[in-house]
Amino acid sequence: MTDTAATPYPPELLRDVAKRRTFAIISHPDAGKTTLTEKLLLFGGAIQLAGTVKARKSARHATSDWMEVEKQRGISVTSSVMQFDYAGHTINLLDTPGHEDFSEDTYRVLTAVDAAVMVIDAAKGVETQTIKLLDVCRLRSTPIITFINKLDREVREPFDLLAEIEDVLKIQCAPVTWPLGMGKAFHGVYHLLRDSVLRFTAGQEKRTDAEIIQGLTNAQLDTLFPMEVGQLREDVELIQGASTPFELDEFLAGRQSPVFFGSGINNFGVQEILQALIDWAPPPQARVAGTGGADTRMVQPAEEKFSGFVFKIQANMDPKHRDRIAFFRICSGRYSSGMKVRHVRAGREMKLANALTFMANERVLKDDGVAGDIIGIHNHGQLQIGDTLSEGENLGFKGIPYFSPELFRAARLRDPLKSKQLQKGLQELGEEGAIQVFELEGGNMLLGAVGVLQFEVVAQRLKDEYKVDAIFESADIHTARWLTFPDELTRRNFEREQVMRLGKDVDGNPVYLASSRYNLEVTMEKWPKVGFHATREHG
Ligand code: G4P
Repeated sequence: MTDTAATPYPPELLRDVAKRRTFAIISHPDAGKTTLTEKLLLFGGAIQLAGTVKARKSARHATSDWMEVEKQRGISVTSSVMQFDYAGHTINLLDTPGHEDFSEDTYRVLTAVDAAVMVIDAAKGVETQTIKLLDVCRLRSTPIITFINKLDREVREPFDLLAEIEDVLKIQCAPVTWPLGMGKAFHGVYHLLRDSVLRFTAGQEKRTDAEIIQGLTNAQLDTLFPMEVGQLREDVELIQGASTPFELDEFLAGRQSPVFFGSGINNFGVQEILQALIDWAPPPQARVAGTGGADTRMVQPAEEKFSGFVFKIQANMDPKHRDRIAFFRICSGRYSSGMKVRHVRAGREMKLANALTFMANERVLKDDGVAGDIIGIHNHGQLQIGDTLSEGENLGFKGIPYFSPELFRAARLRDPLKSKQLQKGLQELGEEGAIQVFELEGGNMLLGAVGVLQFEVVAQRLKDEYKVDAIFESADIHTARWLTFPDELTRRNFEREQVMRLGKDVDGNPVYLASSRYNLEVTMEKWPKVGFHATREHG
């Protein structure tokens, strides 16, 4: 791999990049992601009124009748980007769809962030979706800040929660704040690094310094909280003796997570999360990109030339216009409207004009972006997930994953004359990432999804956008594996023997479609030189 570290970078670019923080909030549904998003925007001054994000979400439901499914289930399948300024920094908060059926989308959003805030419901602890999301963060060693939410309720013991996070998520916890009581007796948190207690007052919009009590031994604590302070002092002694203190390098390597306790709905603990993002979360990082053949290099965020990749494609942002928006993470250089860039996969130039920039505060319009920022590019099918755009260089960013689907359906038409439209629709929806599409021997189409709701969405969209009425039938397939072969001969022999279990994905890559776990194991044993992969990178 070649490195360009010796190149001098433009100072304004270095300065602007250093101010960026790009992150996502990950959580199991209902842990409090929407609430925390809203409070972060409130503290960041991007919205003035609590309720705005939720209201906007429901307004979106009301106007997006192109997707009845979304409305019926009352969930959000859309994902957006919110940019706001806080304490001299520019923060990009990437929203992820909360429903587990759309976790593939969420996974891809996580490839575009430099850090994540994990929200845990303190009554429930680690939940299934959190485990999956953490696994994805681990693929890129993304630094994680933990927010343990809903301390205003009767919840589980904090030590118990930390032990569960460490055991199940395999990440070391470094408590930064510690709760003083819980439920009705929740009085605040003790900040271990500042040696001060932040007092909790339910429902207060913003705190002031008057609510800080300095020092764990402060007699004021005994007067105010005689019932709870003893426990707090005991806990803190235990933490200081037994748990590992916060270490920035460990956090940045994705091995340790600073832990904060609070109550999102009461604005409590939110400012500490923002501060941790600014003080500790990394600015946009260098990223590996292929440069043709097997060669790769690190692309530095302050390199002068513009580059980045598409991590998500969203159709029908505006139901009146049938175009799609490609969400693009800038990895280097500076975006300016009208600039010419190279679409590396297609091998041609394209003009970037009127890209969307995302401001949480809609009154401010902006027309530039640097590494860490997201732009939305209008797109009529020429861009796919994983595509790189660059200012000339033959780059290909790595690490945007496809996951092996867990559910399969065969697509069948009610009207056989519509097979062309079905093929086109599925090809396009496959490229967009709404669903995975495999073509079987003989031309039949097989759909693969992570969650069952994806099938409903695709059926609805085929009807609305392609005028195709398709039926999805259950398919006798347990899992899919992408295949790699050591040589041509092995490939031909394998294909001859396994023809009934082979398919191709939208990009033409060979896939093994196993009927059962046993079937997969037997085949893998029989063909030890063939690679069976549960994930593959886009592009
Ligand atoms: P999500 O996006 O992760 O799915 O969660 P969301 O923020 O929508 O929160 C889920 C529920 O948890 C909401 O209640 C929300 O009000 C509540 N919640 C969030 N933070 C806290 C907290 O700190 N303390 C308590 N006690 N509750 C919290 P809901 O009844 O489902 O919705 P709503 O009627 O309040 O909007």
